[in-house]
Amino acid sequence: LPALQDGPEPTPHTQEAHAPEDDFTAKWTRADARQLQRVSDPTTPPRENSMPASQTMPEVPQDFPDMSNDQVWVWDSWPLTDEDGNQYSVKGQEIIFSLVADRSLGFDERHQYAKIGYFYRETGVPAEERPENGGWTYGGLVFDEGVTDQIFEDKSFSHQTQWSGSARVFKGGEVKLFFTDVAFYRDAQGQDVKPYDPRLTLSVGKVHSTGKDVKLTGFNKVTELLQADGEYYQTGEQNPSFNFRDPFTFEDPAHPGETYMVFEGNTAMPRDEAYCTEEDLGYQAGDPFAETTDEVNASGATYQIANIGLAKATNEDLTEWEFLPPILSANCVTDQTERPQFVFKDGKSYLFTITHRGTFAAGIDGPEGVYGFVGDGIRSDFKPLNGSGLALGNPTNLNYQQGQPFAPNADQHPGAFQAYSHYVMPGGLVQSFIDTIGSPDDFVRGGTLAPTVKMDIAGDTTNVDYSYGDGGLGGWADVPANININPGGQV
Ligand code: FRU
Repeated sequence: LPALQDGPEPTPHTQEAHAPEDDFTAKWTRADARQLQRVSDPTTPPRENSMPASQTMPEVPQDFPDMSNDQVWVWDSWPLTDEDGNQYSVKGQEIIFSLVADRSLGFDERHQYAKIGYFYRETGVPAEERPENGGWTYGGLVFDEGVTDQIFEDKSFSHQTQWSGSARVFKGGEVKLFFTDVAFYRDAQGQDVKPYDPRLTLSVGKVHSTGKDVKLTGFNKVTELLQADGEYYQTGEQNPSFNFRDPFTFEDPAHPGETYMVFEGNTAMPRDEAYCTEEDLGYQAGDPFAETTDEVNASGATYQIANIGLAKATNEDLTEWEFLPPILSANCVTDQTERPQFVFKDGKSYLFTITHRGTFAAGIDGPEGVYGFVGDGIRSDFKPLNGSGLALGNPTNLNYQQGQPFAPNADQHPGAFQAYSHYVMPGGLVQSFIDTIGSPDDFVRGGTLAPTVKMDIAGDTTNVDYSYGDGGLGGWADVPANININPGGQV
């Protein structure tokens, strides 16, 4: 192992659990996040990975196959699950939901045009026996035109789009699709006329499988569940570029019978009045590498105040929800804690979330990837995994700038944007989508799912399993079900 670089000590975290309703928010502190740079090798030459191999996704080759057979761009994807995160096939057909967009758009234009589509394939086939691209059939869009715009009172939107979520399967093949319904109000120059309007929503439908193909019915109505409240979760009034999205529902083993949801939010402070506290910084007394709150608050870091929200269903249909205080904040650490999810293992609660290199606050740096936290319950004094929080990052050289997916930096590792939107599946398998692979003179945009990789999750660590697949890379777009249900939907 390379020597730990100079830097602050991480914040002690007890992992102690609090009641889900308690007003206790764990902090991913600057002291914690600065561990990222302590494990980066400052002598790593250009285009090589400076981060530990045990938390680095193996390099993805540029000649990747397209899972949609040229039909759509594909990015954030999620399986059909139960309350414990098990992944289901229905009458032998695996089903996933994905954000998709027309391939005539540039890949970076996708966000305003995202729609939820679905794919299916036969279950139980080993990855090496499938077609190289994963063998999925694209089933089309989930919603007809004119369904997801219904909830917006102001119909003067310029773009109405569907963002990420999660899908739960119930008896009889009923599917509850939780997602983010979004309206943008922009002028012809692309400037906001008023802030965009993301809402956490639910639509209910049914999955039908003949055993050969899969059809969805229903999904003709959207129920609004939650809008940002300005008290726990920042609103568009407080910050026009606030983040509020990506609902993921689950049952907490400690509270059977209740349904909870985690989602991406921001700390509810007005953008220009935001500040970070001693607790957000998290330094220990006398740490020679500590910063002062004055320093940090003057640095611009206060523009990055992500949190992970918690809500609880108040009825059986899961159509009514109440906010609880956030379970994690990353004030002055990063602005986006996206697609949060829980994995329960060995009596511990593992909270995973994705973040970009470019959304870290001034003075903090780390790779694009999935980050994780462990505690004794769904609201705990979470301890960042592996010291810093990094669970699985792209191969990245922190000694060099990142560039942009459409303009990578020549000195950067060609894999620095290779994957994003990681989703942790049963058995520590991780799926993600390909964004950009390569260097300025030779790069390829993705828009399809990356090879699945595996990490061993144990205690407060994760380690990439390089014995999985080919040097750690499994099948392309491999999102396997671990439970099969019959066409009647009886589990
Ligand atoms: C992650 C993400 C999600 C959002 C979607 C929009 O890749 O930013 O948070 O739902 O993409 O395209």
